[in-house]
Amino acid sequence: MPLSDIAPRDRLIVSLDLPGIEQAEAMIARLGDSVSFYKIGYQLAYAGGLPLVRKLADKGKKVFIDLKLHDIGNTVKRGVESIAKSGATFLTVHGYPQTMKAAVEARQGTNLKILAVTVLTSYDDADLHAAGYRFGVADLAEARAQQAQVLGVDGLVCSPEEAAALRKIVGHQMRLVTPGIRPAGSAAGDQKRIMTPSRAIAAGADYLVVGRPILEAADPRAAAEAIQAEIAPALVA
Ligand code: C5P
Repeated sequence: MPLSDIAPRDRLIVSLDLPGIEQAEAMIARLGDSVSFYKIGYQLAYAGGLPLVRKLADKGKKVFIDLKLHDIGNTVKRGVESIAKSGATFLTVHGYPQTMKAAVEARQGTNLKILAVTVLTSYDDADLHAAGYRFGVADLAEARAQQAQVLGVDGLVCSPEEAAALRKIVGHQMRLVTPGIRPAGSAAGDQKRIMTPSRAIAAGADYLVVGRPILEAADPRAAAEAIQAEIAPALVA
């Protein structure tokens, strides 16, 4: 399906950053049919949450597994083959060429899409230098975005602030998925580079990942629907 055909409500990915499957299932029930796409990351996956992937997929929901894989190519390949069988739609890997290449090869012939993390958003130039890199964040993110595109990676996870620049580099074939979304007036928490849903979409994001503004809302369903309502006009603009 062309990216422009994705319905506004299906562009919201709710991040199930919760301590266990019971809490996650309660949240999914509260969100009901308002939300079609969920993200499972370290916290829930390592607390026994992975069986939820198949359960959600069987109910017609999409699941983004955010485990940011990085290992030797053969191990990545086998991991991706297993994940592809789980019914997941998106999987993140770190944007190292060997890792991206192995992941793309392993997802051939399946419905799984690979998203690369160019540079973690908690890193600045000094952190990269301390880790032994000679590039700063902007140059490394750009180089990895180009490598990802050449290797056939399906999309990138990026901060909404990077979306417009990355869109220019990778064109419209790759999906841009942005966390760091905060509706006007909601708490930033530990996110530093945040944008409202409408501005992130206008900057070129295809999907918005939102956790706490929905999970911690008094009415999570209303919070999710308010974000979805902001997406549609921003797509037209
Ligand atoms: O609660 P909040 O809306 O900040 O949740 C954002 C989600 O996106 C969290 O699961 C976080 O780990 C994830 N994420 C992020 N920044 C990245 C990659 C993933 O915030 N660069």
